[in-house]
Amino acid sequence: MKKPLFKSQLLLLLLLLSSLTLFGKTNVDESKLKQLVDNAVSKSLVALTNSTDEIKDTLKYPNQGTKTFQWQLRTSKDWTSGFYPGCLWYAYELSNDAKFKIWAKQWTSGIEAMKHNHKTHDLGFRFKCAFGNGLRLAPNDPQTTRYKEILLTAAATADSRFVPVIGQYPSDWDESAKTVQNSVGGLVDVMMNLELLLWASENGGDPAIRERCITHSKNVFRDFVRPDGGTYHIVRYDKDNGKVLNKGQLQGDVDESTWSRGHAWMVYGFTLMYRHTKDEQFLNNAMRLADYFIAHLPADKVANWDFQSKLDHRDASASAIVCSALLEMHKYVKDPKKKQFYLNEAKSILTSLCQPPYFTEGKGTNCLLYHSTQYFHKTDNTDVPCIFADYYFLESIIRYKNLAKK
Ligand code: GLY
Repeated sequence: MKKPLFKSQLLLLLLLLSSLTLFGKTNVDESKLKQLVDNAVSKSLVALTNSTDEIKDTLKYPNQGTKTFQWQLRTSKDWTSGFYPGCLWYAYELSNDAKFKIWAKQWTSGIEAMKHNHKTHDLGFRFKCAFGNGLRLAPNDPQTTRYKEILLTAAATADSRFVPVIGQYPSDWDESAKTVQNSVGGLVDVMMNLELLLWASENGGDPAIRERCITHSKNVFRDFVRPDGGTYHIVRYDKDNGKVLNKGQLQGDVDESTWSRGHAWMVYGFTLMYRHTKDEQFLNNAMRLADYFIAHLPADKVANWDFQSKLDHRDASASAIVCSALLEMHKYVKDPKKKQFYLNEAKSILTSLCQPPYFTEGKGTNCLLYHSTQYFHKTDNTDVPCIFADYYFLESIIRYKNLAKK
């Protein structure tokens, strides 16, 4: 009588162990993570306070750090300009300290100059991170009364770029454009603009924007995702008939590899598409892309810059973006095991990002995270701090802390 019982218990134990491994329910030490997050918040607030002295000029925006961890500065024309004011808004959200709100408004205002620039595909990053957070966190301040109108103008500008023949908001950037004649490119990064566009369609902008975002997303998933779940960075289409001309990489290693940050933009982008549409196909898309990202992570959960490259240069920004996306996405997932799996993965990533070698601990620098790869194919772009890594790191921390409030 005892033997079959033992067998069935053993089977149960094996099943339990395999499901724990399969769904990643391993070694997230919750109390350690809470301590790490608290430490990261207090040191990040000091670093961000000091960064305002380092940068001084409110029309200059950090883009990436040097190898010696000084911020390199750009104007609002750079695609990354919205992230620094976004970090200051997040510092205000985390601390409720009015000085961060004052600085956030100062660095936000310089970005308004870009609201009519229809030549860039990156208006969403700039405006949603800066003005969008400002409107959310300080809707009644005298200086923010124009934020809504500014956001709607920027969104209308971004929307004016839609190209019906490809059914997408196109890329402004393709270094091969000269060699690929008569082409128009789509880029995975553009998924991130949809947050500004969808917000506009729900807040007084053209309601038809929503349909264009849906069309864009469906076409991006159809054309950019490989059967194994990896992604291309760019797809080039014939300008006249919209036929695919070729697919490949700009920032990734080789055409058939997967650039981890581009893939991270996709995970985040399809998550926000589900947030706004509640269309299950977008959640399924986000899960598929997230599964690929997670399956290609090394043991410490910080992505290599390209998932197929043998050259070991991490991109902390890619993991920070996906960490934030998973902290939102897991809430939408109905299967309890998958939900827990995504939450655990997010917590594991955050555990790594909150510690050296990724978190700087504010030691001698105002940059928060080391070891991002801005643009591998350019000099001095690997293993550097990047402002967007810091932005999605802080966003992940806020989303993690908000879990406890529910
Ligand atoms: N151009 C966007 C990125 O580097 O992720």
